[in-house]
Amino acid sequence: METTLTTDLKTHNEARQGEAFAPFKVDETLYRKRFYIESYGCAMNFADSEVVASILHGKGFGATKNCEEADLIFINTCSIREKAESTVRKRLTEFKKLKKANPGILVGVLGCMAERLKEKFLQEEKLVDMVVGPDAYRSLPGLIEDAETGQKAVNVLLSRDETYADIAPIRLNSNGVNAFVSIMRGCNNMCSFCVVPFTRGRERSRDAASILNECRELFENGYREVTLLGQNVDSYHWTAPHSIDGIVDEPVTFAKLLEMVALISPLLRVRFSTSHPKDITDEVLFTIAKYDNICNYIHLPVQSGSSRVLQMMNRTYSREWYIAKVNRIREIIPDCGVSTDMITGFCTETEEDHQQSLSLMEYCHYDLAYMYFYSERPGTLAARRFADDVPEAVKKRRLQEMVELHRMHSLQSMQKDVGKTFKVLVEGFSKKTEADLHGRTDQNKVVVFPKENFQKGDYVIVNIHSCTAGTLLGKALSCAI
Ligand code: SAM
Ligand code: SF4
Ligand code: F3S
Repeated sequence: METTLTTDLKTHNEARQGEAFAPFKVDETLYRKRFYIESYGCAMNFADSEVVASILHGKGFGATKNCEEADLIFINTCSIREKAESTVRKRLTEFKKLKKANPGILVGVLGCMAERLKEKFLQEEKLVDMVVGPDAYRSLPGLIEDAETGQKAVNVLLSRDETYADIAPIRLNSNGVNAFVSIMRGCNNMCSFCVVPFTRGRERSRDAASILNECRELFENGYREVTLLGQNVDSYHWTAPHSIDGIVDEPVTFAKLLEMVALISPLLRVRFSTSHPKDITDEVLFTIAKYDNICNYIHLPVQSGSSRVLQMMNRTYSREWYIAKVNRIREIIPDCGVSTDMITGFCTETEEDHQQSLSLMEYCHYDLAYMYFYSERPGTLAARRFADDVPEAVKKRRLQEMVELHRMHSLQSMQKDVGKTFKVLVEGFSKKTEADLHGRTDQNKVVVFPKENFQKGDYVIVNIHSCTAGTLLGKALSCAI
């Protein structure tokens, strides 16, 4: 079985696997049917589930957190690794039992696995009623009607322009402090190991005005942090389709968009994910450095420390080029937190290549790393061109070595913050006790401190007195604002 090892520090781009939505707090009798939705995969999939909830809500469906009382069960799926797909299949067998007990229930598969497997899903998983790809959520109400009358309900058409820009996501499971805001969809890179370009289609940027409206509205509703989401945010590019008095607006780049969101209010923190090393520009780095409320934290996945492997992965940069980028980040934003994604055991990877990955990690000293062993995905460039020739035991052993090295680095990164003072945005009670609060620093580290009179949404100046591998522990000095 595949193991995905990460440190226990969580970022917002990391998914909370299998999370279901909380119910709406309104008169339940108003709804004609109830839906339950469970999400897997990346933050973008979670953001999509909020769009789906909005579409269904608009058609008179109410959400429930309990799948046993639902008329419609949706599972928003991920295909990134084989393990992600097997988790979904296991969950579907549980839903099948519910459906056998109550044949009126409809089960729908959404997201990347729906897109990858298309109609095959209906044949493979006999008790699935709907298969809906990531660009087809507007057709859900119609598909539900088709499924209700026993018809085949499949829509996996990918679009070149769908961004759901006009749909206000429903933040059903939110803490009321942080929210994801989708700024683009799809991906035009063709990293050879990756299934995303096939499941999410061509890259397209969302109308900047609608992004700003969504962020503004979140702020007005008490939210204090937005995370701008895309597979490759640095290639965000949007130009207004109409000119006013013959003057065509300047195109909005990612740096410009960051600035526009940051200017909504100094009290609104701005994060973003994910940056591709080849696309992040000095302009973006200077914008981060310029605005206090744009967090000094960059997730910059490298995938491998070997230039030979990087070339086979089609990442379009070398080890040296990546190192120069990390140096540049640290030059322009000296206290920037940097995290990465790594893959061990990609096709043809030798011990020497692996050592290069470890030495790159030694050089970069990441604050956080998501590490995986290579999982071949059908249809990808790597699956078509290269043999998956590193034995699984070797992939896992290398992964383990990498995880151990990173554990040391992340502990050192936490330890160097002891004795320092940070501005922390409070997100809620600590997991262990309501006597403590938890929040995050600008650099995305989790801080726990005694509650005193502080509350969710406050910015608090906290002095750090100790740490664990994943958490800074401190004492509040004052409320920052
Ligand atoms: N767009 C981001 C980027 O360019 O780095 C990340 C996309 S992907 C959703 C998240 C991570 O999953 C990747 O950075 C990579 O480390 C990992 N991943 C993708 N395909 C994989 C595969 N076939 N096997 C193992 N890990 C994979
Ligand atoms: Fe996949 Fe590469 Fe696109 Fe990231 S940039 S989603 S790894 S193809
Ligand atoms: Fe995300 Fe998984 Fe799809 S990582 S884009 S949900 S394949």
